[in-house]
Amino acid sequence: AASLPEGYTIRALEKGDYGRGFLDCLRVLTTVGDITEEQWSDRYDWMNTQGKGGYFLLVITNEVGRVVGTGALIVERKFIHNLGSVGHIEDIAVAKDQQGKKLGLKIIQALDFIAEKTGCYKSILDCSEANEGFYVKCGFKRAGLEMAHYY
Ligand code: ACO
Repeated sequence: AASLPEGYTIRALEKGDYGRGFLDCLRVLTTVGDITEEQWSDRYDWMNTQGKGGYFLLVITNEVGRVVGTGALIVERKFIHNLGSVGHIEDIAVAKDQQGKKLGLKIIQALDFIAEKTGCYKSILDCSEANEGFYVKCGFKRAGLEMAHYY
């Protein structure tokens, strides 16, 4: 497994990460919007990051405790495949000035580990063509085709 730079840590998302730049980290990925601390707190509780709700959100913090990377695994429980579970990898983001240090790889490895431990028979994700090479290096391969219906 990839190792982290000196002083960096990978851990579960905490409520205090609102003040440590978690949302700014996500802004390298897409629009986040203006989310108040109360809204953040409500959504955090809903997701129940302790795992019962099937949401596993991770962050990497740097040597001064700022969030520089994040990723999520959502474990979907099914009837098929003998009550099987599928891992959905979502919202992977590494701060612009921290890219290329294997932080993204580390996040995917950690999410893969959780997926396997929670009994998922596979993990899947959607990405752009521009990110295909990154996921291939993480051990993923092209499979299927994404369809979307926007509301
Ligand atoms: N295309 C091809 N190879 C890549 C790419 C890419 N876009 N990005 C990284 N790699 C390679 C690296 O060169 C490295 O290869 P090496 O082992 O031969 O040196 C390997 O993949 C691992 O790279 P990391 O250093 O771990 O990548 P990084 O920490 O920069 O994270 C990420 C990659 C997450 C794509 C980052 O660039 C990022 O946050 N981008 C903006 C947000 C984004 O697009 N997120 C992914 C959306 S898809 C989703 O969330 C499911």
